[in-house]
Amino acid sequence: MDRTAQLTTRPSEPATAYDPPPSALSPSAADPASAACDASLRVRAARVLEANWTGASTVPSRNLYPHQWSWDSAFIAIGLRHLSPGRAQTELETLLAAQWGDGRVPHIVFNPSVPLDAYFPSPDFWRSATAGRATGAPRTVQTSGIVQPPVHALAAWLVHRADPALSRARGFLARVYPRLAAWHRYLLHRRDLGGGGLVSVVHPWEQGMDNSPCWDAPLARIVPARARTFRRADLDHGAPEDRPTDLDYGRYVRLAADYRDAGYADGGGDFAVEDPAFNALLIVSEHALARIAQELGAAGTARHARAERLTAALVERLWDPAAGMFLCRDLRGGGGPVRERGVTGLVPLLLPGLPRTVAAGLVRTLRGPHFSLGDRTRLVPSYDLLGEAFNAHRYWRGPAWFNTSWLLERGLRAHGESAAADALRAAVVDLADRTGFAEYVDPYTGEACGATGFSWTAALALDLHKDLLKRP
Ligand code: SER
Repeated sequence: MDRTAQLTTRPSEPATAYDPPPSALSPSAADPASAACDASLRVRAARVLEANWTGASTVPSRNLYPHQWSWDSAFIAIGLRHLSPGRAQTELETLLAAQWGDGRVPHIVFNPSVPLDAYFPSPDFWRSATAGRATGAPRTVQTSGIVQPPVHALAAWLVHRADPALSRARGFLARVYPRLAAWHRYLLHRRDLGGGGLVSVVHPWEQGMDNSPCWDAPLARIVPARARTFRRADLDHGAPEDRPTDLDYGRYVRLAADYRDAGYADGGGDFAVEDPAFNALLIVSEHALARIAQELGAAGTARHARAERLTAALVERLWDPAAGMFLCRDLRGGGGPVRERGVTGLVPLLLPGLPRTVAAGLVRTLRGPHFSLGDRTRLVPSYDLLGEAFNAHRYWRGPAWFNTSWLLERGLRAHGESAAADALRAAVVDLADRTGFAEYVDPYTGEACGATGFSWTAALALDLHKDLLKRP
């Protein structure tokens, strides 16, 4: 492990659309006392990432999520690059080493030294080595069979930029590029279940916002697995009122078991949703992959063009002008839009090629009564404040999460909303630190929910905080 680099400040990176330049420092940074406090934030965030490091990757949370999670690792690497670019590279390489032959990157890579009952569903539920044989599951490591949002190429590019000399010396991009390209190929070729060019998720865990009200209608058709056929481990560590319900879990288990029993073959399941955030992250990662190709001496033009085509498909299929945001599309429920406002529908603000009217509409919605950013909320709620299903504490049904605010900070900055981006950046750093790096927070009060010492919260606070420490 590269401990020497742990508390050093990395050199400035040149700005790109994927790594916006630092804007004006927040007012607090001008004050020496708060600068000292900022420095200790960096130490505290580093301690979380150190405590959650297992030697080859980082667990999201020691108790609640004791293995390696796919999109967590991407966000973690984005923060870790400021402490140890070498370790950030290893984080991504460990995940990609568990890639399946068909290109999928599994959502969990299991640590064999963790007891089976520490997390559910455990490796003996997924049975990747046997049930996933036909789709090329690895033999040396046990994984889940579903995926998570493709943030990885974006993360790999940002990690490379943190220390290009080290990255080149280790051949980092050359090693990860073929795996990232195969990952995108899997999504684009095997998961276009609607035939309109966008990727579908086949389980709410794939999209990552597990119990969002956006899934209520598509999930209502799923017959839940019987409660006595499985035992939830999450309730040993998380408050039941902060977590998904038993009924949600019954449906998650049924969907995952059906997918497993079909040999993890795509196209036949009862849940298929085109999701705005999942597709937006694929597009941003496709742009990043184009830059990686260029860095390796290949042409990136075709990838940029594909990303632009995907952006057009996203707008055509999921943009809802009346709602002022993107909506999910429920392919198994007649193919219509899901009329729920989840934060997923704002995440495409990340995209540089978004039509101007769409970007302006998203910014209005973010500030309007449904999300109230900068007015009643400092971080972006995960769900409509006015929605019937809103719950300020229950996982993805209202609480604010740090990764979505990090994504929207980039989106606001990419579309020229620097003051709003600065305020959101300050809120991420402040609330992450004040809550002990909580998994998520009550969007009104900032009260900590879920786990504390949560890795992506520490990593992303560190990432947004870096500009403050870079000042002379
Ligand atoms: N987020 C899910 C969990 O809570 C699965 O990845 O375990």
